[in-house]
Amino acid sequence: MLNFRYRNPVEMVFGADAITKHLKDLVAPYKSVLLLYGGGSIKKNGVYDDVVSILGKLDCKVTEFPGIEPNPHYETCMKAMEAVRNNNVDLILAVGGGSVVDASKFIAAGAHYKGADPWDFVLSGEPQSKGVHIGAILTLPATGSEMNAGCVISRGEQKLAYFSPTGFPQFSILDPKTTYTLPERQLRNGLMDSYIHVLEQYATTVNPAAKVHDRKAEGLLLVLREIADDVMNKGNDYDTRVNLMWAATNALDGSLMTGVAPDWATHLIGHTITAIYGLDHAITLAIILPGVWEHQLESKKEKLSQYLIRVFQEDTGDTMENAKLAIKRTEEFFHSLGVKTRLGDYGIDASICDKMAPHYATTGTGLGEHGNIMADDVVAILKSRL
Ligand code: NZQ
Ligand code: ZN
Repeated sequence: MLNFRYRNPVEMVFGADAITKHLKDLVAPYKSVLLLYGGGSIKKNGVYDDVVSILGKLDCKVTEFPGIEPNPHYETCMKAMEAVRNNNVDLILAVGGGSVVDASKFIAAGAHYKGADPWDFVLSGEPQSKGVHIGAILTLPATGSEMNAGCVISRGEQKLAYFSPTGFPQFSILDPKTTYTLPERQLRNGLMDSYIHVLEQYATTVNPAAKVHDRKAEGLLLVLREIADDVMNKGNDYDTRVNLMWAATNALDGSLMTGVAPDWATHLIGHTITAIYGLDHAITLAIILPGVWEHQLESKKEKLSQYLIRVFQEDTGDTMENAKLAIKRTEEFFHSLGVKTRLGDYGIDASICDKMAPHYATTGTGLGEHGNIMADDVVAILKSRL
């Protein structure tokens, strides 16, 4: 294993009725709360009413900030930062999916930033030492944002990931029943995003003897495959949603990055596709992942073969054949969820290559665990997925 430092300070409050049982105690120390949410889903599933009623019993000022978009926009977050400053907010309570939680992290780090523009620290990647506290109530299992310090913010054709210790929520409340109102599209996205989070940390060639890591990742992949059919077809089954929600959190709580160098090329290509074409985050991943693996087949073949043997329980007896079959089986899994995996399926043609290439033109390191996927390689990967 590689050496590592790992710290995850998020208090996880998980289970049925966790909001009504625990929110009051968790918010009690704060004096001014910004209630941050999205386009209104929380008003349809009762979460908003529960939260407002609990906050109403506390001795704290509450300011609402609705309207955080999927793939949260820089401009909206900047307005929320103003609301934080104007109301001396000491807790941002993010209620919704990964986009709302991500937005809260940028807002928390940027609200009292002393530099000219908070976008500067997103561009430079400079972690912030001071941020407003965040509490999360998650209603969409997918991103792991509830238990990590990362966020992804969009500005024009840029969609950039940013990590800072200030991004860790003080607490995250996960009640699987809040997912009952999720449409099929978001359940599917949640399954795929979580599955690919695990894969991008698992299918790395910088993984010296990391057996704990490998077996934990394989366990999560098996769980996600095992529950996928029930998630899509069993309706509001509590046990299914419990397992989806906890698997999604575990998939990106940072623990799977310990001792290895994760890949993340698929995510970093997918983010730009979303920024330019508006495709859902998880869809971009399902399109791009097979292309990255085919492009890196020679170096990744042993790991992909291990994945085939341990997760799909198949073995052709040949490492390269196994690796190719692992890619095929993975794509078949996405298809079984009803997801199309070619750019052309979404009306995107070869002009994507010229649009995307400038985003990867760098004199520094490229993508992937070896930093060797450069702009030309991104173009080759995109061409292979037309
Ligand atoms: O806006 P509202 O009305 O709340 O509706 C949302 C939104 O339209 C809806 N929704 C959420 N919970 C619901 C619900 N609808 C009905 N019932 C519920 N219980 O779902 C829609 C999508 O929500 P969003 O938050 O955008 O989805 P998701 O959680 O998949 O988040 C995607 C964002 O997270 C980023 C992505 O890039 C994307 O911007 N990611 C963040 C990561 C992180 N912080 O670690 C890692 C990921 O790889 C990812 O990049
Ligand atoms: Zn993701």
